Amino acid sequence: MPKTALLTLLVLLALALCAPAISGGGLPKPDAASVWSYITKDSPYQKWQSWPDYQGLHRARSPHGPYNKVYVNQAGLTSKKAPANYGTLEVKVAQTKEGQVRDITVQYKVKGYNPAAGDWFWAVYTPQGKVKASGKVNGCIRCHGAAADNDYIMVHSFK
Ligand code: HEC
Repeated sequence: MPKTALLTLLVLLALALCAPAISGGGLPKPDAASVWSYITKDSPYQKWQSWPDYQGLHRARSPHGPYNKVYVNQAGLTSKKAPANYGTLEVKVAQTKEGQVRDITVQYKVKGYNPAAGDWFWAVYTPQGKVKASGKVNGCIRCHGAAADNDYIMVHSFK
């Protein structure tokens, strides 16, 4: 094989290997299966932190209850003001006070996904990962829209 062809091949291989890193650190596509796999296998949400102003277990003010805990990834935590950084993922575990999980809801900020409503991908799963709703879910957007100036985030205030 001529040297230039070999070089070209090597460069292409290197690019292919780096592609996930270049395209955003291997964040999932905005679809229910990819997001579930990401938050349970690639980057288990239980290892994330919570917003400083929403640590631990809280009684729900919402349909997400009766109690909940919210986890947020680094992209979210390092957001200084609204809107949150792209790549922000929030996982809210709706559970009983004793810790029995009822459902798992997700908000995921993806550039260009839904510019009309903050570019959030929404999803609800059973504790086993069965999808109850996902995508540009009207119900989620309508209620969280009350906090549109806080980038649709309810439990943390950017101000
Ligand atoms: C009727 C209002 C309402 C609806 C509908 C609603 N939410 Fe929420 N959501 C809230 C409130 C209020 C909170 C703050 C925590 C609490 O009190 O439960 C919240 C918190 C959250 C959080 C934690 C991050 C944040 O924004 O503070 C996520 C994630 C979330 N909701 C996802 C969803 C998804 C996904 C849907 C649609 C399937 C949805 N929500 C529908 C009211 C709502």
